[in-house]
Amino acid sequence: MATHKIFLLPGDGIGPEATAEVTKIIDWMNSSLGSGFEVETGLVGGAAYDAHELAISEEDMGHAMASDAVLFGAVGGPKWDDVPYEVRPEAGLLRLRKDMALFANLRPAICYPALADSSSLRKEVVEGLDILIVRELTGGVYFGEPKEITDLGNGQKRAIDTQVYDTFEIERISGVAFELARTRSNKVCSMEKRNVMKSGVLWNEVVSAVHKEKYSDVELDHMLADAGGMQLVRWPKQFDVIVTDNLFGDMLSDVAAMLTGSLGMLPSASLGAPDPQTKLRKAMYEPVHGSAPDIAGQGIANPIAMIASFAMCLRYSFNMIEEADRIEQAIANVLDTGKRTADIYSEGTTKISTTQMGDAVLSELQALTG
Ligand code: IPM
Ligand code: MG
Repeated sequence: MATHKIFLLPGDGIGPEATAEVTKIIDWMNSSLGSGFEVETGLVGGAAYDAHELAISEEDMGHAMASDAVLFGAVGGPKWDDVPYEVRPEAGLLRLRKDMALFANLRPAICYPALADSSSLRKEVVEGLDILIVRELTGGVYFGEPKEITDLGNGQKRAIDTQVYDTFEIERISGVAFELARTRSNKVCSMEKRNVMKSGVLWNEVVSAVHKEKYSDVELDHMLADAGGMQLVRWPKQFDVIVTDNLFGDMLSDVAAMLTGSLGMLPSASLGAPDPQTKLRKAMYEPVHGSAPDIAGQGIANPIAMIASFAMCLRYSFNMIEEADRIEQAIANVLDTGKRTADIYSEGTTKISTTQMGDAVLSELQALTG
């Protein structure tokens, strides 16, 4: 069996606790199924800053670039609030996204039946929810130049961020959204702010053109991003695939995450373009939740988003579809038995720790594997 090179970046806060639960699954798959994962571990974020005053070292960037997939925990925390902006923990994450050219960020929001009561919205609004946010990840205001604060010399400063998109960036992300829609309910909703932003006007035009040219079989709607946020909490089941830019995607995916009951449930995949020769694509998988410094080190974090991110890794990087399905089924089954980490706990369920949740998913996976 081929080897699969995984580069593990646990990061900060609850990142290491969450990734430890994935490591258990990887070790079991290697020893019992001969899956052939080769795992190397590196430092990112505050952990990398403490070791070498960088958000990620050149050596670890090299490992990431050479890997088949990166598994990323989380970065950041109050400890690094005052480090220089260039080496703040988040800079490590942004550099990985940019240098690996991971332009397509897939953020599925699925409401597990057992958690329909945990959402802050009414059960009938979220029950059965299955939407996919496709967020552009290497452009827009996150990376646009100029990006600076200048001193105006009169006691005032001026801060500038630049929202910028070229045609090809919008074409390739909308292509990903349309392709994925065809494997689901065949509907795409594109969100921008064309009523205020030139980048929104171009976004809207290009998505429409790509649709007309190649994907007219897919149903396409356009929504202003603010109205889209409102519709997401009003009646989220109207959506199938949502395609949007980097910043709107950041915000809308947090909203979508909460619909599912907890931010601790949401995985994500960040994908590059397939190499024309090998057909392989660079990829990184990370939970949508952050480092949650307030609960770090207490063993109460929810590892499900991280485990589900590994399932996405199996699906998108290693074409191990059955194994991915089984992990997702194992998560659903464990939730059905009433086991909950603190973030998704409700009366009548059983509160368990991070490692107990990891163990429960693994033993369910072992049972399903037979
Ligand atoms: C996310 C996070 C990141 C982002 C931060 C940590 C830089 O919020 O992945 O959603 O803004 O993209
Ligand atoms: Mg975010």
